[in-house]
Amino acid sequence: MAPLIDRFGRSFPYLRLSLIEACNFRCSYCLPDGYQGCGSQGLLRLDEIRRLLAGFACAGLQKLRLTGGEPTLRRDLLDIIALAAATPGLQRLAMTTNGCLLEKRVADWRAAGLSAINVSLDSLDGERFRQITGHDRHASLLRGIDRALELDFQAVKLNAVLLRGRNDDELPAWQDFLRERPLSVRFIELMRTGDNEDYFARHHLRAERLEAQLQQAGWQLQPRGPSDGPAREYAHPNFRGRIGVIAPYSKDFCAGCNRLRVTSKGDLRLCLFGEFGIPLRPLLQDDADLDTLVGRLTGQLALKQAGHGLHQGQTGLTPHLASIGG
Ligand code: 5AD
Ligand code: SF4
Repeated sequence: MAPLIDRFGRSFPYLRLSLIEACNFRCSYCLPDGYQGCGSQGLLRLDEIRRLLAGFACAGLQKLRLTGGEPTLRRDLLDIIALAAATPGLQRLAMTTNGCLLEKRVADWRAAGLSAINVSLDSLDGERFRQITGHDRHASLLRGIDRALELDFQAVKLNAVLLRGRNDDELPAWQDFLRERPLSVRFIELMRTGDNEDYFARHHLRAERLEAQLQQAGWQLQPRGPSDGPAREYAHPNFRGRIGVIAPYSKDFCAGCNRLRVTSKGDLRLCLFGEFGIPLRPLLQDDADLDTLVGRLTGQLALKQAGHGLHQGQTGLTPHLASIGG
């Protein structure tokens, strides 16, 4: 079947599926008071996830990312990974995690079929990491990352949210870290969500300044491939690792959008900052509904807007990114 294409000519081979809203971290920009909801009730079950992925596979799915909240809090994670890895046509099965179980479990995830992993690591300094996330797990995370590097993943990436006055002086430390490690760190510009307005005002930092520093230090912007995400990626001959910059407030950010999202309860979200979700769950109860499901996916895409309303301060339905997985 033809891939999903919207009225702006964008195609959507990439799905981000949230497995759970709950998270055990308290990142200062996301869930400063910890997760407050009702945990794991009403989440998509394994059989529903199977039907969902069958539908997306018919619509040209190539890349799937499991997200949260914190996806590794799902007890049936290994089953979900194995099921997802068997999706026809899938070229990459990735997961984003805060790393709480990385050191212990990453080898199991890899063996079950996970092919890429993104780990949130906002600072290379243990005390700062604790202040930002509320958890004293820095050393274990670093060991987990090095373990992941031994497991022949297609990609190991780290996410660091850029925070004014919190972690915006760490480029030298990151360069040391990346000298011998073949992984890529993504510096993500802080996004304003429904819940973090004051924090945003205090800590938001435009990524442009970092990019100027990178260029000064000899990092070179890499050409963007057709299926690449929104990161502008830099490489340097003296370093094995790469540095990506994700700037959601930059002017062409949405033009390159290639992703759809499904929440942990089965709502299709056309945009991270969209105003509405489209319930798919009623169509995930019976294998016989596959065609209707594919029809709903194609039909809804016609409604996707050109871009988000963040510049106008519109954060849509998104109180914090744990609700939808970033
Ligand atoms: N702005 C930018 N990035 C965020 N993340 C969570 N909330 C925000 C925000 N408001 C990041 C996390 C994680 C990824 C899933 O999204 O740090 O790396
Ligand atoms: Fe949890 Fe991720 Fe939000 Fe941090 S950013 S609190 S790890 S969902």
